Amino acid sequence: MQIHATVDALRASLNQSRRAGKTIAFVPTMGNLHAGHISLMRQARDHADIVVASIFVNRLQFGPNEDFDKYPRTFEADCAQLRDAGVEVLFAPTETDLYPEPQTYTVEPPDIQFMLEGECRPGHFRGVATVVMKLFQIVQPDVAVFGKKDYQQLMVLRNMSRQFMLPIKIVGGETVRAEDGLALSSRNGYLNPTERAEAPRLQQSLQRIRQAVLAGDKDYAALCQKASAELDSHGWQTDYISIRRQQDLMPAGPEDRDLVIVAASRLGTPRLLDNLEI
Ligand code: PAJ
Repeated sequence: MQIHATVDALRASLNQSRRAGKTIAFVPTMGNLHAGHISLMRQARDHADIVVASIFVNRLQFGPNEDFDKYPRTFEADCAQLRDAGVEVLFAPTETDLYPEPQTYTVEPPDIQFMLEGECRPGHFRGVATVVMKLFQIVQPDVAVFGKKDYQQLMVLRNMSRQFMLPIKIVGGETVRAEDGLALSSRNGYLNPTERAEAPRLQQSLQRIRQAVLAGDKDYAALCQKASAELDSHGWQTDYISIRRQQDLMPAGPEDRDLVIVAASRLGTPRLLDNLEI
């Protein structure tokens, strides 16, 4: 696996590949890789000749009281996993490589950036969209793969690519879970053993809501309220549980089809995110 730390070195290498007629699939990450990330690498492989991964903990998408400094950085172990997955190229820039000057030009997503995750994390999606736009300009992939685990992020980036007419196909990868149903996440490492045992309750709540909806229950607000209260009675602090439309993440009404239940709740230190399509 080639590892490039600078924009120039990466560009030179990828230009060579492109001249040889190779197509490029790209999987951006913040590192501390787990099986969820690796499944995206494998999907990327199905879409192009060369898989390029990036590892960059993007300060721009962290709030002032969030875990930027503490975010787990496990570069050597990440490289080993990427090599095993057959990834050809890793881009791992430093902050000064990617932000040589203050990033005063930014990508400003529309209203979707202010709801759900965006309401809890002001500025988060501006930071995500801005860094992904930069990474897209540097890598110039044919395909980019993002996880459905971060459902709203996938939507923001899909819409951004479409509206800016980027010649990049955006692919969504299914969420990889632990055996007990907990969605894999770098932040699961912040859970102590008791919290880890409790953590699958989030996905279980979403499964129960899904069953109720499929059985004909249309009182979405009450279903979500009940699930949220149940979680909180087990020590969670729920930010939101909401039934939304898959197409635009707006609140779903009784006539809507293709729904997704989205949730974020704090358990001990980490905020856990999950969702379930109906
Ligand atoms: P990060 O949290 O490292 O996630 C990188 C990619 O892996 C994202 O597309 C995310 O949705 C996906 N992912 C995370 N957990 C997953 C799981 N359990 N199953 C499947 N896919 C999973 O998301 C980011 O980094 C950043 O915001 C980034 C897009 C890199 C921009 O900085």
